[in-house]
This record gives sequence, structure tokens and C-alpha cells, in this order.
Amino acid sequence: MTTVIPFDSTRSSRSAARDAARVAELRTECSIVTADGGVPLVTGEYVDYANFDYAASAPCLTGVAAALAEALPYYASVHRGAGHHSQVSTDSYERARRSVARFLGVRTEADASGSADAVVFVRGTTDAVNLLARAVPEGCTVVVFESEHHASLLPWEHPASRAGKVVRLPLPETPEAAVAAARAALAEAPEGPRLLCVTAASNVTGEIWPVGELVEAAHAEGARVVVDAAQYVPHLPFSLSETGADYVALSGHKLYAPFGSGVLAGRSDWLSAAAPYLAGGGATRRVTEHDVVWNDLPARHEAGSPNVLGAVALAAACDTFTTETLSLQHIREAALLERLRSGLTGIEGVHELTLWGAEHARVGIVSFVVDGLPADLLAAALSAEYGIGVRDGLFCAHPLTAHLLPEGHAQAVRASLGVGTTEEHVDRLVGAVADLVARGPRWEYADCDGRLAPVPDPRNVL
Ligand SMILES: Cc1ncc(COP(=O)(O)O)c(C=O)c1O
Repeated sequence: MTTVIPFDSTRSSRSAARDAARVAELRTECSIVTADGGVPLVTGEYVDYANFDYAASAPCLTGVAAALAEALPYYASVHRGAGHHSQVSTDSYERARRSVARFLGVRTEADASGSADAVVFVRGTTDAVNLLARAVPEGCTVVVFESEHHASLLPWEHPASRAGKVVRLPLPETPEAAVAAARAALAEAPEGPRLLCVTAASNVTGEIWPVGELVEAAHAEGARVVVDAAQYVPHLPFSLSETGADYVALSGHKLYAPFGSGVLAGRSDWLSAAAPYLAGGGATRRVTEHDVVWNDLPARHEAGSPNVLGAVALAAACDTFTTETLSLQHIREAALLERLRSGLTGIEGVHELTLWGAEHARVGIVSFVVDGLPADLLAAALSAEYGIGVRDGLFCAHPLTAHLLPEGHAQAVRASLGVGTTEEHVDRLVGAVADLVARGPRWEYADCDGRLAPVPDPRNVL
């Protein structure tokens, strides 16, 4: 697993100074597309939008927008047309696959433990895991932690899944316990193919899972590992060949690349042997009245017209986030996260959600509750009165979030940060929570189609 670079590491002061200079330069290399004019408040003012919802969908990188603007005039069918624009679009699509392959450190040749990797374009992490659930060998035992996002927890039990036994492991008390529990479950599993599914960084707590150790333990038992890297790759470099993980899933829209693309990358043997994920054009080589000859990878699992703009967007993000850029971005985010967490924990009645304790390494995500202020009210007031966007609820990881909630709380607020986050945003969020704790909301809020909304709402947002 790529080492997490601590914010104030023991590196020489010269390299720390060099990093600080590079971190400052990142603002031009990694910038996001923003709306002019800010966002409206119920008071009638406009403020710069303090977006703390990167973990749901990250804004578009300017480099991604530029790549899309360049590709759009040539937008045409992929792998289908003889015309110039179709040829250009096909080339862009396949170049995008190579960018993603580089970004994920795919294995281009089979190694001792299996086959070379394929890169399959899908719609996102949910799609990727569902594809793998239908591609594992029939009867495969799947071991998964209860803490997973629903996208990684549920596809194995879907009627279309080829998994046999699904073992759900309870929330481990420590990273070491996670490794031990996974190894024991895989050792006890019936003979035959086995797969461990693990998230690299939790979408609830931001905590980083010991992927390297889990891969080692699983491989020692002859099992494979799929890593849900949806929340990890926007913050830190991930490599299939370095970690030894067998599969990885990610979502473009969490990696600053909107337009509906995602990826499942990993060992091609199971994917080649499986029936196509979708039946339709592109996945076929020949169809007769009596027979269908399916295509090889990756087209085998990419039936339908490929999402070329989604692929171009994702590739542009992958090309922006080199290992160095992401590592520097992580240093920048770690400082902002530290500022946010220490600000929040200094407020009376605020409790952070954590599985493995405050000191455990994490990406830029913090979920918390505030005594006396329900999460939905807090989120609504932060938006309407302060121009701050957070997420509230159970974050599609119900078992984990419910387990971590302190008594008396039904939901939590999640603040997640990224490329466009500034110190002012962090200070505004901390100040707003402190204000709301001290004085409560200044506006009335009522249920409106299942969400709390200001009443009246003079912002005219919709
Ligand atoms: C850890 C994790 N896995 C999977 C997903 C699902 O991603 P998508 O909705 O893009 O399929 C999410 C989305 O929040 C996530 O945070």
C-alpha cells in the first residue's frame, strides 16, 4: 500500500520546504471549475460556496473541463464508425483506458499469482462491484466487512451474483483485528475460489484500511482481493502492482471527473471467463440466428455505445493526479483536515465518528454529531445561513454509521474536503457550527419533500 505521507513528517527541512513550495503551486495545477457570484443565503447575501461534500461528488477539475472542450467537437461513436470523428473518438477512448491503467498501476503481464489486468469502463464503483459479483467463479466465497459502503456490501447477495457463500465480518476493533478476522474467515471458507472485498478509505470516517496487510493475508490463504478505492484515489496514489490487490473499483465523479464514468480494473481471467455484464452491441463479435460469439475483454463487458466523454474526463483527472501531485495534495488536505478536526472537537457537544480512534490515518473526511442539534437541521442551517454544503444521514453505509453514532443521535453530518477547499472554508464551517451550538438556527426550518428547508426560503434556488 502506498505509504500515507504524514503532514509534519521527519523528512529533511530542505525537502519539506520544497514540498511546501510545490503545495503552493498546486493551486494552478489542480484547480476546479467554480460558479461565478457565489451562493445565496436566506439573508439575501451571496457568499463563496464552501463545498464540504467532495466525498459525494467532487467538482470538475479545470483540466478535465479543458479536455472535454477539446474532445467535444470530435464527439462521435466509438468502435463503430469509419468516419474521421469516429476514429478520433475511438482513439480518445482507448487512450483514456491507457491513462487509467497508468494511474492504477495495472499489471501489463501475468505475474506468478494470476493473469494480467484488464481495465473495464463502467458507470462507477457500484457498477464495478456489481460487474465483479457477476464475474466471480460460480460459488466463490466472498468475505466482506460490515463496515462497507452499500456498493461493496450488497452486490454479492444480489440474485444475479455468482458468489456462493457471503461472509459478513463484524466491525473490527483495530486494523490488526481486521487483518486477523479476514485471514481466519478466508481460511475457514470452503475449498474453491475466495474473494475479500475491502474499502481503502471509509466514506464515513475517512479512515484508511490496511489494504497491503489484507492483501498479504488473503493471498497467503489463496484468496483474491477487490479494493473499493472510491474514496481513496481522490486523495492518495493507489497501485494494483504495488499493493498486489487483484481488483480495484473507482468512480470518476469522486475523482473530479463528471460525465458518468468509472472503472473496474484487475485480473482478466475471471472477467474473460464470465458472461458479458450486459448483453448487446459492442460485446458481441458475431451474432447469427442460432448463435452469439461474445467479444474478448474489455469490450466483452462494455456493451452499448461507450461513454467516450466520461472516459476522456476520467483520463484527464488521472493524468492530472500523478503520484507526486496526489501526494502533495494529501499534504495540503492533511493540514486543512487537522484545522477542521481540531476546530470541531473544541466545540462543546461535538463528537467525531471514528472506528479506530482520532489518531488513525485518514483522508479528508470527518463525520460528526452535535448534541441538541439534529444532523438534518444542522446541514440545512449550514447551507441556508452560511453557504456551506455538507452531507447528512447515514451515508449509504448504514451498519457502520449506525454503530458509530453516539446514543441519542439518529444521523450524522459529514464534511469532506478536496482540491478547492480553503482555510477560510474550514474556519467558516467551524465558526458556523460554534454559532449554531451557541445560539441555534436564526431561521425556521420545516420538512419539504423529505428534507428540511428554510421557511420561507427567499433564495429561490430551484
Ligand atoms: C466507499 C464508496 N464506495 C462506493 C461508492 C459508490 O460510488 P458510486 O455511487 O459512484 O457508484 C461510494 C459513494 O459514495 C463510496 O463512498
